[in-house]
Amino acid sequence: MSVFSILSIRLLFVDADVEFSWTEEEVVEVYNNTSFIIASDVCYDDDLTDGLFRTLYRLCNNFLHNCTILISIEKRLNFTLRHLNVSCKAYDHFCHCLAQLQDRMDGKCSFRVEQLPSNFPQFLSYERIEQLELWKVSCDQAQSEF
Ligand SMILES: *[C@@H]1O[C@H](CO)[C@@H](O)[C@H](O)[C@H]1NC(C)=O
Ligand SMILES: *[C@@H]1O[C@H](CO)[C@@H](O)[C@H](O)[C@H]1NC(C)=O
Ligand SMILES: *[C@@H]1O[C@H](CO)[C@@H](O)[C@H](O)[C@H]1NC(C)=O
Ligand SMILES: *[C@@H]1O[C@H](CO)[C@@H](O)[C@H](O)[C@H]1NC(C)=O
Ligand SMILES: *[C@@H]1O[C@H](CO)[C@@H](O)[C@H](O)[C@H]1NC(C)=O
Repeated sequence: MSVFSILSIRLLFVDADVEFSWTEEEVVEVYNNTSFIIASDVCYDDDLTDGLFRTLYRLCNNFLHNCTILISIEKRLNFTLRHLNVSCKAYDHFCHCLAQLQDRMDGKCSFRVEQLPSNFPQFLSYERIEQLELWKVSCDQAQSEF
């Protein structure tokens, strides 16, 4: 089992001319061995959130094993004149992407999305605010036909 930080996904490019690019072997190792992906505080811009979900979808469809993706997000509520109320557009878009991922049927794996209870364990020292949410996406590979 290996844990794969979302921060390094953009490095999956295989181009020997580019410094720090991955080798074909390393990419296969990631595809074959990844069981967890952790992403923290990466959903605050709609275009980047779209990119994140496209990447997750693509990765999971290449994985050999089922994979659990944990994503933390702070729902940064703010007053907007448009809604005349507090809202968080980035959070709304994140939820939209989660729902879309769960509904996708066109790949070889299926996705289940759930929000984990807010009292999940705290192992590091940080200020736990009410707006902090932890989401779990389970990616199941289709049963292989043996
Ligand atoms: C990756 O998995 C495939 C399919 O099981 C296997 O054929 C291949 O040898 C594996 N490669 C590595 C580097 O683990
Ligand atoms: C990936 O898994 C294979 C066996 O499934 C193992 O031999 C190999 O060492 C693992 N690679 C890494 C980088 O964990
Ligand atoms: C609203 O936005 C401002 C400016 O970005 C920020 O300083 C403030 O903390 C936000 N309020 C909340 C409740 O997040
Ligand atoms: C304002 O937004 C909050 C948080 O989303 C919601 O609970 C509340 O019902 C909204 N109030 C109005 C008047 O829409
Ligand atoms: C993946 O998850 C599904 C549903 O939980 C399960 O039926 C299947 O056995 C799992 N596959 C592997 C390879 O663990």
